[in-house]
Amino acid sequence: QSAKLVLDPAFTVGTVDPRLFGSFVEHLGRCVYTGIFEPDHPCADESGLRTDVLDLVRELGVTTIRYPGGNFVSGYRWEDGTGPVEERPRRLDLAWRSTETNRFGLGEYIAFLREVGPQAEPMMAVNLGTRGVAEALELQEYANHPGGTALSDRRIAHGDKDPYGIKLWCLGNEMDGPWQTGHKTAEEYGRLAAETARAMRQFDPGVELVACGSSNQGMPTFAAWEAKVLEETYDLVDYISLHSYYEERDGDRDSFLASAVDMESFIENVVATCDHIGARLKSKKKINLSFDEWNVWYMNRPNPHPVTDWQEAPRLLEDVYSVTDAVVFGSLLIALLRHADRVTVACLAQLVNVIAPIMTEPGGPAWRQTTFYPFAQASAYGRGRVLRTAVESPVHETAAYGEVPLLHTTAVQDETTGAVTVFAVNRHQREGLPLEIDLRAAGVSTLVEHSVLADADPEARNTLAEPERVVPHPARGTALEGGVLRATLEPLSWNVIRLG
Ligand code: AHR
Repeated sequence: QSAKLVLDPAFTVGTVDPRLFGSFVEHLGRCVYTGIFEPDHPCADESGLRTDVLDLVRELGVTTIRYPGGNFVSGYRWEDGTGPVEERPRRLDLAWRSTETNRFGLGEYIAFLREVGPQAEPMMAVNLGTRGVAEALELQEYANHPGGTALSDRRIAHGDKDPYGIKLWCLGNEMDGPWQTGHKTAEEYGRLAAETARAMRQFDPGVELVACGSSNQGMPTFAAWEAKVLEETYDLVDYISLHSYYEERDGDRDSFLASAVDMESFIENVVATCDHIGARLKSKKKINLSFDEWNVWYMNRPNPHPVTDWQEAPRLLEDVYSVTDAVVFGSLLIALLRHADRVTVACLAQLVNVIAPIMTEPGGPAWRQTTFYPFAQASAYGRGRVLRTAVESPVHETAAYGEVPLLHTTAVQDETTGAVTVFAVNRHQREGLPLEIDLRAAGVSTLVEHSVLADADPEARNTLAEPERVVPHPARGTALEGGVLRATLEPLSWNVIRLG
């Protein structure tokens, strides 16, 4: 049985915001230390940044980079990471039971973004766990005021004459989670977020603010949390956050491959909640979604690395991703693109070493995980207008989500060139999926490329010993004739079909 897809540029979902291809750097494990920052590494520049990692970050095509947490931010004192390095305090990081040296801080983060390039935009989280309005305002003034006040002059004295220009801010992190330092009820958090937002807008009315939504759709307070927080903050914030991580459970790979079903329903439920509150408040404003943590994460597997309490930069969350993981990951990207009208910020959690597309060895090489490829391709070719897809697909039964289509797909048209890129996943583990795409209305005449990520061994991974074991390959037998494309999607595969 084959799948069919009709694409017509007259019917669109919306335009992709470049911020959809964001990522996340947290002070967690080796994301910062020996990840992006390793002064003793042979590839380090004068700021201590690893240039081999910078090259891969640019190749990955990330835009907005969220910092410094995550759970870490809820106990963080931003001042600790400023000023002369030798005077910075060592602190306990309660979130990850590590020691934070503060060798890397706000100025180093901004230097990192500047090295990545102009597409790299800061997204800074303030601590609303152990701190509040005053500290958020102080951070904003230190970072963004040009000079002539105590805090802005302190930044200048620390070596950064130019303000950092941070526009996008997260009001805390996962405040609905009992694991969060300073966890709050929706009422408590809603009030604090509202007052922090109001004060930050007094400094800069153009600031863009993200209120914390739920840590995942399964949280007992899900939806009620969003409703309460938005009742308090609706006119003061621009985004509500979503976080979600997926993993294979009890060997149920078919359900794992359908993880995007959960992600899409999560997005749609949050959109419904935002619009419900907007309607109740008689507001014309729409709240957009910041899916600022998403990924595959083997949260329930034991850490294979020995780690002790209060270690510096321990090996935490260093998941090594398989081909299967990359296919699920690609499907999560498709889910985000399919909702590009309302999901206008998204951050792949995280960037280096910690559940990351880029891995490093201290003093050694950096390499691409399997998940690197879908992200880099989506960021390179998923820019423009997302087309509405009319899809007919064979289905199969899954334990977690019931009947699920085998084809998961979206298409994006470049507004200037008219080029169309179809992103597609075949969720079947053993069978190829014949696909027919009707492109007669799309105005394309050439098949530029059909790239596939799939492998005879779905467990294949890239490792230090074999860093290029898995790379995308060209598909065989794909053809475009009379405006109709015919292809067979390999079993368990991520596909990028580019048409010009
Ligand atoms: O990304 C890892 C952790 O996952 C983050 O610190 C936290 O926000 C989430 O629970």
